[in-house]
Amino acid sequence: MSGSLNPSSLARLLGQWNLGAAPAYRELADVVRLLVLDGRVPLEVALPSERALAATLGISRTTVTAGYSLLREQGFLSSGQGSRGRTCIPHHGPRAGGHDGGRSLGGPPGLAVPDGLLDLAYASLPASGEAVHRAFAAALTELPALLPGFGYDALGVGALREAIAARYSAAGVPTAAGQILVTSGAQHALNIVLRTLAGRSDKVLVEHPSYPNALDAIRAAGCRPVPVAMPPVDSGRDGGRDGGRIAGGNAGWDLDAMRAALKQQRPAMAYVVPDFHNPTGRLMSDPQRRQLVRAAAASGTVLVVDETLRELNLDAADSTPVAAFSPAVVSIGSLSKSHWAGLRTGWIRAGEPLIQRFAAARTTMDLGGPVVEQLAAAHLVASLAEPLPARLAALRSNRDALLALVAEHLPSWRAERPQGGLSVWCRLPTPTSTALAVLAPDFGIRLAAGPRFGVGGAFEHHLRVPFTLPPEQLETAVLALRSAQDRLEAAPQLRRNLAAPPPTAIA
Ligand SMILES: Cc1ncc(COP(=O)(O)O)c(C=O)c1O
Repeated sequence: MSGSLNPSSLARLLGQWNLGAAPAYRELADVVRLLVLDGRVPLEVALPSERALAATLGISRTTVTAGYSLLREQGFLSSGQGSRGRTCIPHHGPRAGGHDGGRSLGGPPGLAVPDGLLDLAYASLPASGEAVHRAFAAALTELPALLPGFGYDALGVGALREAIAARYSAAGVPTAAGQILVTSGAQHALNIVLRTLAGRSDKVLVEHPSYPNALDAIRAAGCRPVPVAMPPVDSGRDGGRDGGRIAGGNAGWDLDAMRAALKQQRPAMAYVVPDFHNPTGRLMSDPQRRQLVRAAAASGTVLVVDETLRELNLDAADSTPVAAFSPAVVSIGSLSKSHWAGLRTGWIRAGEPLIQRFAAARTTMDLGGPVVEQLAAAHLVASLAEPLPARLAALRSNRDALLALVAEHLPSWRAERPQGGLSVWCRLPTPTSTALAVLAPDFGIRLAAGPRFGVGGAFEHHLRVPFTLPPEQLETAVLALRSAQDRLEAAPQLRRNLAAPPPTAIA
């Protein structure tokens, strides 16, 4: 990406940045940094000239110069020609060893985590290394048999489609290979589904909160998200424990609200994550799955179910794949969380005619996936259970450590105990999620602010905290969160003014 940002666009994105809680140049740099980390200001765009921005914001040029210098020092602005530096992310390259060595940032892809920053913005794990390595070794031995072919296959390599279909069949959803389309991950799968089934201005029902990249894909397709609130955890059957700070149980989904939204709004599509929902980690019960499928059918809505996190079942809970309740369901899956996001391998399961339409639509984006990756993925899918026990055991102890740390160091936060997945959804005592995300790098951590998980600026009261780091690093991270919160408490004006993020238009 390249180009430049004009002063009025940047002013609009900055919103109420000048709060008087710190020197103005510092506040300016802090907010620009958040915008870059959040992806709202793209990478490699030239910021406005110092003179133009100063005039637009009605501040002195010296303030803008000092703000830009700070961004340069922090590695968020390149030293371009003159004052037109371009936005960037500090890049120190992958570190050898270490749990987070070389992982990428949640926003701009392909960039290493800035040295020393603990990344709580990205809920992802390193590879199940040995299993992945062995699968690639096996794939290389199988490759020669495929080399005489053209290598283009919009549906995917047969062995992988069969392995995925066999997995669905074993889980109680009889599936033929013809019902599977291999994609480059679940995000790609969702984009294919959107391109095929949803037109511009169509409504798409989403859970609220939901997975930020899915919300972005829905908006980028020109569709209108119809958010349906997830019930607060307090309304769960099992109540709380630990003095009410850790909420247990499963508050589930508000099926009445979903039914009403489906009936009244008649969305073209509904996108849901019933298996260890991101960010809450909830699991939808089988009766709710059945009701949802019925309600979607009654309103003529295509139900798209994202099963990316399905294998991360931390409490060994039973659930039936949603597709078992209706052949009309479109399911999306991925190896990103069970094995490694670097595989970039996912799939769509649907009826064969729909799969053919998806394959036709995909060719506007790509002409098929890489063959070696798919051969390797076929081995991983066939022996899916193998690396999972170790991964789940580590995640369970990380989850418990994180919940205990939050209860100890952030007693005013309310953390929801997730049944699976990779993160804990926390309710903050004050609407300070964006403010915390702005301050976080000063304390050595990177955060995704709550509003990234919603539409219209919701979730300032929430923060998703992943438990993908080992307990020692989680402790460092939680202590950093505590320090950032203390800084906000000591600067009430900062807290108040950063409470409202710039409003986002919603329909
Ligand atoms: C619910 C959900 N869907 C999709 C994705 C993206 O998956 P992939 O890496 O397969 O594109 C994620 C990643 O965190 C996710 O949590």
